Amino acid sequence: MIKIAVFASGGGSNLQALIDAQDAGLFKGKIALIFSNVPESGAMERGENERIESVAIASKEYPGSREAYDAEVLRLCESKKIDLICLAGYMRILTPVLIKPFLYKMMNVHPGLLPKFGGEGMYGHHVHEAVIKAKEKESGATVHFVTEGVDAGPIILQGNVKVQLNDTPETLAERVLKVEHQIYPEAVRLFCEGKIKVVDNRVRILN
Ligand code: GRF
Repeated sequence: MIKIAVFASGGGSNLQALIDAQDAGLFKGKIALIFSNVPESGAMERGENERIESVAIASKEYPGSREAYDAEVLRLCESKKIDLICLAGYMRILTPVLIKPFLYKMMNVHPGLLPKFGGEGMYGHHVHEAVIKAKEKESGATVHFVTEGVDAGPIILQGNVKVQLNDTPETLAERVLKVEHQIYPEAVRLFCEGKIKVVDNRVRILN
């Protein structure tokens, strides 16, 4: 059984989608840990309600050292024998201390169609604002592996939504979030079934 850790800093609707998918038996994995850098986050509350082990480490306890913080998080994941980390609105830039040991074993969900509208500073409403400003006809969500470049890892799954003429960043975000909730559990299912292969930094989904 694949042991999954979900990392979230905020409300955790993607976390909830993953919990619901697990409960519905969509993937053969177990969410064994919920982790947050924000002790008072909605994600922690959801975890406790669902009786899933939930741990928060406030980043202010590690001033100035992202590496020391990530080393602590790595120790935690190793002690729980985590096989897959799912970032779900985890608002921290990760260091190689955590990325390297979990290379192709850590996923993220992004509220846009990467490789467009990604990179540093492109998160949350910034993505939707940029998409509308660029007059894109389509947006969507991307699940990708986490590598050392921000939003640069191999893409696992994407889902599209049409951008409407009267869309605001808020209305677009709402529809994109629904897509996130569909494709993230599906990406986890593929991972748990061993169907994701990375060749030359590209994902191949096996039949
Ligand atoms: C999502 O839009 C996700 O794409 C981004 O952060 C947001 C998290 O939302 N990485 P939630 O906390 O899962 O509701």
